[in-house]
Amino acid sequence: MFYIFKEIRRERNEKILCAILALALTAALASCGSTVVEPQPEQQTDVQPTSSTEPEFEIETSLNYPVLVNKENELPEDWEENLEITTVKNSFDDEVEVEKQACDAYFKLKEVLAAEGVYVDLDSARRSVAEQQRIWDKFMEQYGEVYTKRTVAVPGFSEHHTGLALDLYLNIDGEDVYLNEDMVKYTDVWAKIHAKLADYGFILRYLEGKEAITGYGYEPWHIRYVGSPEIAKEITDKGITLEEYLNILPVGDVTPPKDE
Ligand code: DAL
Ligand code: ZN
Repeated sequence: MFYIFKEIRRERNEKILCAILALALTAALASCGSTVVEPQPEQQTDVQPTSSTEPEFEIETSLNYPVLVNKENELPEDWEENLEITTVKNSFDDEVEVEKQACDAYFKLKEVLAAEGVYVDLDSARRSVAEQQRIWDKFMEQYGEVYTKRTVAVPGFSEHHTGLALDLYLNIDGEDVYLNEDMVKYTDVWAKIHAKLADYGFILRYLEGKEAITGYGYEPWHIRYVGSPEIAKEITDKGITLEEYLNILPVGDVTPPKDE
């Protein structure tokens, strides 16, 4: 299934993809007629695609769990048709909607972390476009355009629409810690959380130092379910973003402010 072609809608990316495929074809022809095109390690850099072929994973469920929703890829139109949602309550008694399989994985993660004395809860997971719009408007009013653009997705382009993105908050010594500016201080706690993510099919989505690729600043709380521990481990071990894993080039137009 050429899933990747569905994701690359913009003309620029289509041109880039054609160039990549042309390179792959050339490599294949050069290898005496072999039909298998292996990634060329010397062509890979920190921000380059990890392979010149489509990702090697099977879509075994009705949902395409590694779906890419980012600044350039909107939520697929038919996404809601196959989406199964579970509603859970957090410590504030807020109802949080989560995609069913991601929710099961989250509770396993939560349990194993609790056994280590690390307590997490769910601040936000699936959001409607209207909800994202409210968040966007609030940030624009409070923080202005530059900060909002690197922190909040434009409504319709948030990974939270998929139900697969989960924002965690912490409970430290019996107190809930949920404000971003407070949560970032607990680097040791996040390190313990991040170390367990892949075992349950999650990745850390907005990595430090990858803002030019993801388009967003570092968010230790925003985790993303990708459907399998194997995929999550590969992405985590390589230290790459979902964009790189899916062979999408950096979005490029989102240089973070120099003072942050
Ligand atoms: N905070 C992430 C980027 C979102 O708004 O979807
Ligand atoms: Zn988030």
